Amino acid sequence: MSETMIQMAQRAKKCAEEIKKHREIQLVSHIDADGITSGAIIAKALERAGIEYEMLFVKQLDENIVSELADKNPELTIFTDLGSGQIEHISNYGLHAIISDHHRPQGDTDLHLNPHLFGANGSFEISGSGTTFILAGQLGNNSDLADLAIVGCVGDMQYRKYGKLVSLNREILEANPTIIEAKKDISLYGKQTRPVFKMLQFSSDPYLPGLSGSEDACIDFLHRIGLRSGNDEKWRRWIDLDEGEKVRVTSSLLQYSVQNGLSSYNVNRLVGECYLLLQEEEGTEMRDASEYSTLLNATGRYMQAEVGMAVCMGDREEAYDSASRLLNEHRKNLVDGLNFVKDNGVTQLSHLQFFDAGSSIPETIVGIVAGMSHASNNRHLPIVAFANKEDGHKVSARGTQELVNRGLNLSEAIGQVCQEIGGAGGGHDIAAGATVPFGKKQEFIEKLNSVIASQIAARA
Ligand code: C5P
Ligand code: C5P
Ligand code: ZN
Repeated sequence: MSETMIQMAQRAKKCAEEIKKHREIQLVSHIDADGITSGAIIAKALERAGIEYEMLFVKQLDENIVSELADKNPELTIFTDLGSGQIEHISNYGLHAIISDHHRPQGDTDLHLNPHLFGANGSFEISGSGTTFILAGQLGNNSDLADLAIVGCVGDMQYRKYGKLVSLNREILEANPTIIEAKKDISLYGKQTRPVFKMLQFSSDPYLPGLSGSEDACIDFLHRIGLRSGNDEKWRRWIDLDEGEKVRVTSSLLQYSVQNGLSSYNVNRLVGECYLLLQEEEGTEMRDASEYSTLLNATGRYMQAEVGMAVCMGDREEAYDSASRLLNEHRKNLVDGLNFVKDNGVTQLSHLQFFDAGSSIPETIVGIVAGMSHASNNRHLPIVAFANKEDGHKVSARGTQELVNRGLNLSEAIGQVCQEIGGAGGGHDIAAGATVPFGKKQEFIEKLNSVIASQIAARA
């Protein structure tokens, strides 16, 4: 075990000791895949320890929500996948709380489990589900929940920096080989659940020029490389192909993509490490960490995180059926969102590019759309997106590893601008978000542009 893991387990032990003093606990988690898996991990661990809980999912933690929580006067609150940026509010409102999070902390307390406090970076070394898995490990024997821990960090795209999970995430993975398996494979969405031609046809991240969106072109592509397209053949999924066939499709696709102008960044992304959940049935979304996390995002990002959590807790009937329906909608919304950006374009400033989705893209998925469209557009500048939200303008920002290496820190930049003009935000160096007051969009973007300029200049 690494020194960091040992230190985090020690801190988790303190948190667990406090948890065990209580009979009923308020749980608060984030609505994305990492937040939902975090919620499910702590809920399972409490259930097994005979402790009751009430679960609440929120889009973000702000002063209003902290104050509403305080009004309920819970004995103890456990925040998962959020809270580290709001320690001041939590203590001002007198909440007795445990925080298991990986966002950049603003402040510290004894009952705070966050990788940044132990010298690790929460944008790629461990996510909220991982910290919560460490916490669960101190509440009882919960190592079977390692699969949910991996689904969470995959949902947060923590494999992106090195093309695979590293550091604390890797430790969790390798300590649980009967539960989760890492395998190098094609990284398109739908290997478990879609016929191969549909997997190609619906590929939006990356977008495959000439194939994405065209059923005929995809069937033709497979036919040309010798995958017959008879009736039965047509419905074979990626997992139904034998190893030789997989190699043939992968190398032809790589060659095709290079020839058809896919950027080298995206060509490199076509093959990567994938994570299989060995306790799950083959041919379902839950078998593959990436598909699973998308299924969960399809619930939480539409205010139905409870449905995703029920799937994580083992409901493969009613909750899974609802989640599957939501998944179809979600996939469609992502494609519509990507088309919106393509049709409307982005505006470039000296140190960032941005687009304003208004009400055309739900604010809960505008960050995903920004990240996906960034993959196929100008990667020399960070991308910032605006979308309408009931209490202000939602901002989502995404950078690249190269920009972070050159000094970019989106979480700090957004924090600084919010301090100047109002609003609240946070996140990571490579991805961050905020809500800014109505009427302040222009001011926000100009200020953010100059803060980023100075971050890069300071490092140069
Ligand atoms: O709330 P949170 O921490 O869960 O979200 C992390 C966000 O950071 C995700 O939207 C993920 O896509 C983004 N990310 C990224 N590039 C990375 C790592 C994370 O865009 N290398
Ligand atoms: O919402 P979005 O996907 O753009 O979020 C990117 C990152 O910024 C996530 O880690 C999210 O938790 C964080 N964020 C935040 N405060 C907000 C909005 C987003 O800390 N108001
Ligand atoms: Zn997270």
